[in-house]
Amino acid sequence: MPVMCSPGAANDEAASEIRSRSSASATRPAYARELFAPLGPPYDRYARLLSFGQDPRWRRFLVSRIPPSALRVLDVATGTGAVAIELAHAVPERTVVGIDQSPEMLAVARARAGERIELVDGRAEALPFADAEFDALTFTYLLRYVDDPAATMRELARVVRPGGTIAMLEFAVPRGVWRPLWELYVRFGLPLAGAAVSPGWREVGRFLGGSIREFHARVPLEALWHDAGIANVRSRRLSLGGGVVLWGTRG
Ligand SMILES: C[S@@+](CC[C@H](N)C(=O)[O-])C[C@H]1O[C@@H](n2cnc3c(N)ncnc32)[C@H](O)[C@@H]1O
Repeated sequence: MPVMCSPGAANDEAASEIRSRSSASATRPAYARELFAPLGPPYDRYARLLSFGQDPRWRRFLVSRIPPSALRVLDVATGTGAVAIELAHAVPERTVVGIDQSPEMLAVARARAGERIELVDGRAEALPFADAEFDALTFTYLLRYVDDPAATMRELARVVRPGGTIAMLEFAVPRGVWRPLWELYVRFGLPLAGAAVSPGWREVGRFLGGSIREFHARVPLEALWHDAGIANVRSRRLSLGGGVVLWGTRG
C-alpha cells in the first residue's frame, strides 16, 4: 500500500518524483515558471476547490498577522494577487507591492488589483528593493520553488525594517490519524481532480503531494527563519494540519 511506506522510502520517492517532474528544467524556479504559466485566470477558483475551500481562510489568517500599523507591505510570490488584495482591503491607508516571477500570473493580478497595489515582475531570490524598505512582508507557497531556501529567507528579511513583521503561508503534512487521509488525497484524489480540470492542473495534482512532503523533510523552517535574523517566530497549523502559517519580527 503506498500510504504505508516508510518515511525514508517516501522521501526517496518524493525526491525522484520532483526530479522527474522538473527534468525539462535545470532548477526549481524554472520548473515553477513552467508549472504556473498555464494556470491563469481560474487559478483562485480551482485552488479553493482543490483545498476544500480552506485556501482563502488560510490567506485571511496570514494577513491578520500583519499589524495595521504596517502601511507599506511587500507580498512575494503574489501570483494572481489574492494576498496583496486582502492586505490592501485590511487597511485603507496601506500600499502593497506584489512581486512574482510569472508574467502569466501577474497578468491576472493586474486585471483586478486596485490603485494601492503595485505589481512587479521579479524573483524572490534577488528582490529589486532597498534594505529595510518595507514595514512588513508576506509570502505564500514560495520556498518549495527556490533552490536555496536559506539564502531566499535572508533576502526576504533584508527588505523589511527592523521590528517589521514577516509572515508566510505554506501547505503542511497533517499528523496522526489525518496523515493517511492526506496521503490518500494527494496520491489519488488530487491527481484525478487536477486531471479533470485541465492539463496544467493535472501537472499540479501530480506534483503537489510529493513537493510538500519532500520540502518539509528537507527544510527546517523555524531554524531557517532564526538564521535569517527573524525573532519571536511563531507558527499555527490550520485545517487539521494541511496548512501552516509562520510569523515573526525582523531583528
Ligand atoms: C501557488 S502560487 C501562490 C500565489 C499567491 N500567493 C496565492 O496565495 O494564491 C505560487 C507563486 O509563486 C511564484 N513563484 C515561484 N517561485 C518564485 C520565485 N523564485 N520568485 C518569485 N515568485 C515565485 C509562482 O510564479 C506563483 O505565482
